[in-house]
Amino acid sequence: EAAKAIQLTEDSSLPKATRSKIGKLGALRGQRVTVFGWVHRQRTQGKDMRFLVLRDGTGYLQVVLTGRLCHTYEALTLTAESSVRVVGQLEAVPEGKSAPGGHELVADYWEVLGAAPSGEDAFNSRLNADADPSVLLDQRHLVLRGETASAVLRCRAALLAAFRDHFASSGYTEVTPPCMVQTQVEGGSTLFQFDYYGEKAYLTQSSQLYLETCLPALGDVYCVAESYRAEKSHTRRHLSEYTHLEAELVFVDFDDLLNSIESLICDTIDRALANPEVAALIQQLNPGFKAPKRPFRRMDYSEAIEWLAEHKVEKTLPDGTTAPYVWGDDIPEAPERLMTDTIGEPILLCRFPAEIKSFYMKRDSVDRRVTESVDVLMPNVGEIVGGSMRISDMEELLEGYAREGIDPTPYYWFTDQRKYGTAEHGGYGLGVERFLAWILNRYTVRDCSLYPRFPGRCLP
Ligand code: 4AD
Repeated sequence: EAAKAIQLTEDSSLPKATRSKIGKLGALRGQRVTVFGWVHRQRTQGKDMRFLVLRDGTGYLQVVLTGRLCHTYEALTLTAESSVRVVGQLEAVPEGKSAPGGHELVADYWEVLGAAPSGEDAFNSRLNADADPSVLLDQRHLVLRGETASAVLRCRAALLAAFRDHFASSGYTEVTPPCMVQTQVEGGSTLFQFDYYGEKAYLTQSSQLYLETCLPALGDVYCVAESYRAEKSHTRRHLSEYTHLEAELVFVDFDDLLNSIESLICDTIDRALANPEVAALIQQLNPGFKAPKRPFRRMDYSEAIEWLAEHKVEKTLPDGTTAPYVWGDDIPEAPERLMTDTIGEPILLCRFPAEIKSFYMKRDSVDRRVTESVDVLMPNVGEIVGGSMRISDMEELLEGYAREGIDPTPYYWFTDQRKYGTAEHGGYGLGVERFLAWILNRYTVRDCSLYPRFPGRCLP
């Protein structure tokens, strides 16, 4: 009752407060400020002092409530995740104490804007720590508020910006290809099909074919677009919808392509680490992370088959017996991971047999059995990039369609690239969530997506 009676009012005789985001408070030390945010954590000290850690998406701020300010009904019933407005003096933290940013807000007025529930429906009860992962996925919208999930999203934004900076400074033009398409790129078995005004259409698996059409118009191009794969495999690196960073380069050879992939990865990381805030977030999530050394190890598919034989890594046959991998076999995720983790450094795995690769890949001029193709393999994640030189000869492309049983009719526009001034070109696609899982040392790509999609999950 007594608490209910206490009403705080703003003291109009105090200096006018400057409204600021937490991340920008550095410049306002010693001044009176207004801050909006959510109660991230709180603790009381005696009955006359309460510390809040406030969060507004730009940073964390310690708030000190003293005396009357922590005796109000709102103070006594304050719950984590309530939104508040706080006004007060921004002071350096006392000698020997630490707080985010090195300062604390000594409040002279505060109010609750939106209270969060207490009891059974309290924020922390919804996120019961020992709950199984599907509970956390159901509550993803709340999980995002946590320090880890929000740090991942912040790094994601910084790395996307760094990718774009890399491309802009290297003379590429960004384009935005369609997601609704009528052609496949990476095989029919992972296509999401839907009804498009009575016609059969798909969600795109890759924007590659569209990027190729841009080369004669814009020169080197790239895009950041969602790609869709109806993956039946439940693995820690497969999503049904993922962010695909793709680039296409013209008048290049295979070696140029490999160098450009290496340069994209290394330059993006250098750009991100050059920002101290981003570097700190990366260290928070993946302590000890170091940018990889150039040049990356280059290895041919045939050498990988030999590596597996030498290390006695074998495949399991349908009858349960095992046999060595032989030239021509697709190397599945598990042995690929084992090899990459054992070698322990980035690998550019090159020259896969044509039969296990897509219809558009150019063959090696010397060994016609293999393609000028590359996968970038990273320790702890495996493949993060897939790329190749593209067939530039029209007849050869028509053979590629035939080999894969693809009707060339809806691909007329793609074939036309070979008809109207063909040019040697190549490109690649990088899975953004896999790249993040590698740099940020996340167990699964699901943790690197805002709202991950995989079989059985399309909510929230
Ligand atoms: O190797 P992929 O299938 O290659 C292509 O789509 C080419 N058309 C790209 C190009 O050359 N423009 O996919 C490229 C990358 C993979 O290396 C992987 O990182 C990511 O996309 N990826 C996935 N990421 C998450 N979930 C999935 N289901 C993925 N499938 C591929």
